[in-house]
Amino acid sequence: MKKILYVLAFSLCATGAAAQDEFHQETAVEVTPGAKAPHLGMTPQMGWSTWNKFGGNINEKIIRDMADKLVELGLADAGYVYLNIDDCWHGERDKDGFIQVDSERFPSGMKALADYVHSKGLKLGIYSDAGCMTCAGRPGSLGHEYQDALQYARWGVDYLKYDWCNTNDVNPHGAYTLMRNALAETGRPIFFSMCEWGHSKPWEWASDVSHSWRSTGDIGLSFRDNIKHDTWTQLSVLTIVDINEKLRQYAGPGHWNDPDMLECGNGFTVAQDRSHFTLWAMMAAPLILGNDLTNISKETFDIITNKDVIAIDQDILGVQGLRQSVDNGLEFWFKPLIDGKWAFTIFNRNESDASYVLDWQKFNFTDDLSGRATAFDSTVYDVKDVWSNAPKSLKTTKKGATLRIPGEDVVTFVLTPRRQ
Ligand code: GLA
Repeated sequence: MKKILYVLAFSLCATGAAAQDEFHQETAVEVTPGAKAPHLGMTPQMGWSTWNKFGGNINEKIIRDMADKLVELGLADAGYVYLNIDDCWHGERDKDGFIQVDSERFPSGMKALADYVHSKGLKLGIYSDAGCMTCAGRPGSLGHEYQDALQYARWGVDYLKYDWCNTNDVNPHGAYTLMRNALAETGRPIFFSMCEWGHSKPWEWASDVSHSWRSTGDIGLSFRDNIKHDTWTQLSVLTIVDINEKLRQYAGPGHWNDPDMLECGNGFTVAQDRSHFTLWAMMAAPLILGNDLTNISKETFDIITNKDVIAIDQDILGVQGLRQSVDNGLEFWFKPLIDGKWAFTIFNRNESDASYVLDWQKFNFTDDLSGRATAFDSTVYDVKDVWSNAPKSLKTTKKGATLRIPGEDVVTFVLTPRRQ
């Protein structure tokens, strides 16, 4: 089979975690026709997207500003390297059928924008749709898949989010496989992010088609209740968590469940933002920011740049965490990490504050998916309190503690086994 060798700077999102340094290297990537680009998404993708904050009101200034901010604020160094343009960048097709940018909004063109984004050390993402039109009514890729993929590669695009509006009787497996093959044929490694909202259970068939698939409908700026519109519903953080947590067996390096982009910094309380971000990390979800980076509060900044929480998300074991148990609205989440470590989060789903007496021995269990056991009865772990909101005395799992967890907030620990 014909193979195209492609050399690229291969970086798995700098999180500061030492274990990931070995992955920061120049490597030869083979792009194989008929296969998704290998080695991409070995940890969940991280970046920023236009959609949650700006919707369809986008232009090249926004993209340039966000590129500048991703670098200036240290977000790129924290791992947020994909700068993704969502719906509404499209103009018309030219006489040969090649898609063009909306030249009023993007007067310099997409190639110049890609060059700018790359000059900042970032990667450029773009958006299209498997139907005849995008969700916002711009031209879709149906019938133009190979041309569109070629155009993206010529522009220097690194990431494609491929949506599912206006698809009528199109077969999802066929449509996404077609675009996967079209991307591969360009020879450029392009991250492929499926956005089919989980309708056809893509987790059952898409692990060799894409690097991630949306597991739910669209997120809305609501923590608890869904937002109902005339013809569609935006899902709350809690609704999405309840759908996505059941799919953990399908996630892994190179193929992630995607519970949609982050709403941190868009209007949630600090506790809600912290829980949203932490639960996404516990679920090994893509971390795609959606807030205005030119106007960001210290609280939001501290949440989205918490190195320990990002490292939980980006852990190279790549196991999606589980909601191990629930007690009076307190949810106990565990995520196995590399080197025998665990991430442990207590999420207070109630609106009221909770006082909780933590007894580690209640949490002896074996995770069947990873085969890992907490074994608090035989293993002592050092405890790192990653949000610095638990009692300082809680240093190991030898003793418990009484925790105060505000409504809709989290306490999160990284547990490192002591050498015997
Ligand atoms: C769909 C997707 C969203 C966004 C919009 C753009 O609703 O699920 O994430 O891309 O389309 O129109």
